Amino acid sequence: MHTPVLFGEVINALKPGTGGCYLDVTVGGGGHAEGILEASAPDGRVLGTDADARAIQQAAERLSRFGPRVVLRQAWLDEAPSVARQLGFKGFDGILADLGLSSNQLDDPTRGFAFMRDGPLDMRFDSSRGVSAATLINTSDVNGLTQLLREYGEVERARQVAEAIWEARPLTTTAQLRDAVAGVARSRGRIHPATQVFQALRIAVNDELRRLREALPLLLEILAPGGRLAVITFHSLEDRIVKQAFRDATMNMEPQPGFGQGQSLHAMALPVNRKPITASQEEIAANPRARSAKVRVVEKLS
Ligand SMILES: C[S@@+](CC[C@H](N)C(=O)[O-])C[C@H]1O[C@@H](n2cnc3c(N)ncnc32)[C@H](O)[C@@H]1O
Repeated sequence: MHTPVLFGEVINALKPGTGGCYLDVTVGGGGHAEGILEASAPDGRVLGTDADARAIQQAAERLSRFGPRVVLRQAWLDEAPSVARQLGFKGFDGILADLGLSSNQLDDPTRGFAFMRDGPLDMRFDSSRGVSAATLINTSDVNGLTQLLREYGEVERARQVAEAIWEARPLTTTAQLRDAVAGVARSRGRIHPATQVFQALRIAVNDELRRLREALPLLLEILAPGGRLAVITFHSLEDRIVKQAFRDATMNMEPQPGFGQGQSLHAMALPVNRKPITASQEEIAANPRARSAKVRVVEKLS
C-alpha cells in the first residue's frame, strides 16, 4: 500500500480541526485524507479528488468508515475547484496536493509507469481519456521528442535519446522503451538512465505542469480566510511552479509572527515557512520516495 510522505508535517501544516472542511486534490490511496479525517473528528469533512478512477476506488475502500464525512470524485487538479463548487463546497480550511505518482500506480504493470516491470506503455492517470505514452511516441517526430525529453525530464543528450527512441518505433511496452534508451541515456548517480525519460513522458501524457500552473491560483481562491494550501512536489520542475505561484500570492512577504493583512494590500496569502519542508533521515530510510519530497505551505489572508 502507498505510504504517504511527510505525513506528520502535512497534518501539522493544515491543522485539521473539528467542523473543518478540507480538499485533497490528489487523494490517491487516501493516506493523507485519513489523517485529516482522524484529526478533524467527529465532524470534519474531506472532498477527495484524483484523476485516476482506480485511486478513487482505493480511497473509497480505505475511507469507508468515515461515511458521509468523505466525498470522492474523479477530477484533474485544475478541475477540482469547479467540482467542489458544483457540490456546494464553499471555503476550504485546508487544501492538499501531493503530486506525482503513488506506489499503487507504480507497482501496477498494467499502468505502464515503471520501467522495472514490463507492461503496456500507457502512463495515463485517467485511462479513459487522452493519448497513451505509446501513441505519443509513435506519432511524434524527433524534434518533438527531443523537446519533450529536455523540457519535462531535463534529459542529458536529449537529441540522441530521442533519435534512439524514434529508431526503435513502434514501441508498445515499457521494456521496449527502457531497452531503446539503455545505451544512450546517461544515469545520474545511482539513478537508472531510463528514470528521466519515463518522468518526461508521464508529465507530457498527463499535461502535469500546465495543470499545476493553472490549478494553483484556483485552489488559493477556494480557500477560506485563514485556510492553508500545502503542496508536496517531487522534482524541481514542479517545485519551481509552486515556488513562483506562492511568491506571486504572497508578494514576497517574509513569514513572521504577527505579519498580517494590513502589511500588503495586494497579497492574498502568507508564507507559512521560509523554506520548503523536507523529509527526515528516518522517513527517507523507511520510505525512499520521500527523498525528493518538498512541501510548501501558504495561508490565505482575510
Ligand atoms: C502521490 S499520490 C497521492 C497519495 C495520497 N496523498 C495518499 O496519501 O495516498 C498522487 C496522486 O495524484 C494523482 N495525480 C497526479 N497528478 C494529478 C493531476 N494533475 N490531477 C489529478 N490527479 C493527479 C495521481 O493519480 C495519484 O493518485
